[in-house]
Amino acid sequence: MSRIFITGSTDGLGLAAARSLMKEGHDIVLHARSRERASALAEISPTALGIVIGDLASATETRSIAEQVNAIGRMDAVIHNAGIYLERSRDETPDGHAKTLAVNVLAPYLLTAWITRPDRLVYLSSGMHRSGSNALDDIDWKKRPWNASQAYSESKLYIATLAATIARHWPDVFSNAVDPGWVPTKMGGVGAPDNLEMGHLTQTWLAASDAEAAKVSGGYWYHRQRREAAAEVGDAGFQDALVEKLAELTGVRLFADGR
Ligand SMILES: NC(=O)c1ccc[n+]([C@@H]2O[C@H](COP(=O)([O-])OP(=O)(O)OC[C@H]3O[C@@H](n4cnc5c(N)ncnc54)[C@H](OP(=O)(O)O)[C@@H]3O)[C@@H](O)[C@H]2O)c1
Repeated sequence: MSRIFITGSTDGLGLAAARSLMKEGHDIVLHARSRERASALAEISPTALGIVIGDLASATETRSIAEQVNAIGRMDAVIHNAGIYLERSRDETPDGHAKTLAVNVLAPYLLTAWITRPDRLVYLSSGMHRSGSNALDDIDWKKRPWNASQAYSESKLYIATLAATIARHWPDVFSNAVDPGWVPTKMGGVGAPDNLEMGHLTQTWLAASDAEAAKVSGGYWYHRQRREAAAEVGDAGFQDALVEKLAELTGVRLFADGR
């Protein structure tokens, strides 16, 4: 049985993944943005390994989340699930970043750097990453007029690219990105056409399955099938430029060789 941390497990796909993995007998560390939101976990928290609290829009709280996880012990897997979709404005965070970038990209980047390295890492991307742009000069939306859908698409391109970059740099870790499909959660909306069940079972499989097919790295997945991601995701030049930007924005370097 594995020890697995899931960000954003108070709702939607994160909560479904937590329930499913707990049913299989795994030890799950849950995450809520605040003590108030942790109340959404009342039903499953008694059988969880722990609950950590913190808002991913803040680097200070993200640091605290990592410390809370590390205090519980080393995880076998981390599912970077939490995310936000169409923000009405850039909505600057306490650290001065666009909130969409902060929650969807900077927080998983920082948690990857700060949480004791697990065996498996899973990052939630989206089919919308294909509308992302390979221009990295304004990833924090300081120059361009705000475009919520474009900001989300770019964030999902960056997170898929981060998963692939980690796979390249850390050969001892299985690092993969998942497109869960357009599914009916708070984010997806009630009319979302895709399968909610399959929407979370790829993440749980990549995080915990002993099947050889799940023990791979650098993949982009949809419904347990490997899919072709946008060309940038596997482009080493784009990967290196992106992690350089993320290091500049956060002041934290993920890779010891400076890239
Ligand atoms: N649903 C879809 O159709 C779809 C499609 C493609 C990709 N995805 C991706 O799948 C992942 C999960 O999406 P979902 O549909 O399950 O979304 P959801 O129902 O809105 O749930 C998102 C989770 O992330 C948490 N979260 C958001 N901002 C946070 C913050 N600042 N600090 C801490 N926690 C925060 C939420 O906490 P609260 O409960 O407190 O809000 C919630 O637990 C996301 O990364 C999303 O981009 C979803």
